[in-house]
Amino acid sequence: MRIYKVGGAVRDRLLGKPVTDIDWVVVGATTEEMLAKGFRPVGADFPVFLHPKSGEEYALARTERKSGRGYGGFTFHASPEVTLEEDLIRRDLTINAMAEDDQQNLTDPYHGQRDLEARLLRHVSPAFAEDPLRVLRVARFAARYATLGFTVAPETLALMRQLSESGELEALTPERSWKEISRALMEDQPQVFLEVLRACGALKVLMPEVDALFGVPQPPAHHPEIDTGAHTLSVLQQAALHKQPLTVRWACLLHDLGKGLTPEDEWPRHIAHEFKGLKLIKAVNERFKVPKDCQELALLVGEYHTHGHRALELKPSTLLELLQSFDIYRRPQRFEEFIAACEMDARGRKGLEERSYPQADYLRGAATAARSVAVQPLLEKGFKGPELGEEIKRERLKALKAYKEATSV
Ligand code: CTP
Repeated sequence: MRIYKVGGAVRDRLLGKPVTDIDWVVVGATTEEMLAKGFRPVGADFPVFLHPKSGEEYALARTERKSGRGYGGFTFHASPEVTLEEDLIRRDLTINAMAEDDQQNLTDPYHGQRDLEARLLRHVSPAFAEDPLRVLRVARFAARYATLGFTVAPETLALMRQLSESGELEALTPERSWKEISRALMEDQPQVFLEVLRACGALKVLMPEVDALFGVPQPPAHHPEIDTGAHTLSVLQQAALHKQPLTVRWACLLHDLGKGLTPEDEWPRHIAHEFKGLKLIKAVNERFKVPKDCQELALLVGEYHTHGHRALELKPSTLLELLQSFDIYRRPQRFEEFIAACEMDARGRKGLEERSYPQADYLRGAATAARSVAVQPLLEKGFKGPELGEEIKRERLKALKAYKEATSV
């Protein structure tokens, strides 16, 4: 049996990037031999094993990686006769289809090293089409390596377009798609992920609500970039620049979906887009079975981002409603994330990236004022039940009025 390091570990070493996890391919072995050496099988009938000590993945060389339509449709062919070259040709990209032995001798039959140097994401063979998830993977790699100058090879983009138009993307499970989407959003240039998906027609299939924002104008006085799609990408870029967590990035991507519903004769204004967008945000959330914290923040940011921008003009009663909607008393972190998303939205406008956002501190101050109302003295005064609730609210409103007066010039 011969063992090689493959995939991301080889690619990232050649790029001079840190290698986090290592995948291995085993040529010339049977399942029985692997088990006899103490490897633990990953699944009942999948030729992947975990090393008894390191826990790293060792896969038997295999062909036929076809993931059929629908759930769990994976087939494969693994046998000791499958060669390293046969295994590599069924992988997604040439830069992911290199192998290395324990002496760091490179096996690179499909010229991955040449494409690394040319900064090209190029598919290895027509077998690329066996797994439609690769459309998302390529877009994710494009986002990850954009700063290094990588682009998608035109023939690969054409293949991705074919796959997107074939309806194959619709067969992807929400879990697999979300894994790619969430990883891509956490890259340094997440907007590139969306640009590539859009360029190959996959965005229209996966998130038509986001795709629809391109070509929709906004008022130039507030949005010098005009196009809502371009704005959305800039907001996401700002979120990455400011190292925001996934929740904030997801909310940034979906915050303006309602603008895609505005009738053309109302352009460039988007009256009530915050509210109109909610059902679209909900649909995207559900489509990918998005984690609850991301779902929640996206909906709240969608509904209230304009409140965030207008924070300094809000009446104390409106401010209080906003704070109550966020349940700032029990969920302080979520309110911070809302503020961050609003700030990214404001910065994601052409030429206004560096403009300060005083709303952020103002909102934090308002939250502090509302939280400063102590409940104990009200209990001591004998308030209870719904009356107590009303009294707390009244006190909070008083605190916010005082806050507004103290901060106004
Ligand atoms: N692979 C593939 N098609 C897929 C998934 C994986 O061809 N749909 C192959 C690629 O050769 C890839 C390797 O399996 O390099 C390992 O996959 P994975 O661990 O998912 O990705 P990495 O390339 O290691 O990249 P990352 O750094 O993002 O984990």
